[in-house]
Amino acid sequence: MAKTLIAFFSRADENYFGGAMRYVKVGNTEIVVNLMKEMIDADTFKIEMANPYSPVYMTCIEEAKKDLRSQARPELKSYLESIDEYDTVILAYPNYWGTFPMAVATFLERYDFTGKTILPLCTNEGSGMGGSESGIKKLTPGATVVKGLPITGSSAASAGPSVEHWLKANRLL
Ligand SMILES: Cc1cc2nc3c(=O)[nH]c(=O)nc-3n(C[C@H](O)[C@H](O)[C@H](O)COP(=O)(O)O)c2cc1C
Repeated sequence: MAKTLIAFFSRADENYFGGAMRYVKVGNTEIVVNLMKEMIDADTFKIEMANPYSPVYMTCIEEAKKDLRSQARPELKSYLESIDEYDTVILAYPNYWGTFPMAVATFLERYDFTGKTILPLCTNEGSGMGGSESGIKKLTPGATVVKGLPITGSSAASAGPSVEHWLKANRLL
């Protein structure tokens, strides 16, 4: 039977919201994932770094930039044994320096996505999907990567209607 996996990266702690820094308990991408979980029947997997970035925003910014520049593949806290049972993977992540966080690359390189459909969803503060879709395509040869959904992170809680529309367009609703 067709099964869907929602794999996501999201960072809580200090972030930038409309001109001010604020500490949050749930990251923007995870807020959107929680909305999606109410709409569709899917398993979820949180992509977490074994050594997470700093809770301090400005430090995190620098750490993530360094990892992008060196094309690092940070170790994850845990891995799924296999993704064989899923035919569709919703991949949700924040835009970090114009693309996905390098931990997402670690996740993508671990599995064979041949024949699977990937739906990218990227929360951001203005850069949209950036180069993330082409980056995903490069790391998942043989997969079908559909047009992604960019969501403004600071308005994540009101993303329901656009998420619903996108899931319907991709026949998941
Ligand atoms: C390290 C870092 C780099 C970021 N780079 C960008 C960027 O290049 N473009 C952009 O629009 N937003 C950027 N942002 C903002 C995040 O994409 C946005 O706040 C996102 O919703 C955070 O998701 P999360 O709370 O689920 O981690 C960056 C945030 C961080 C922490």
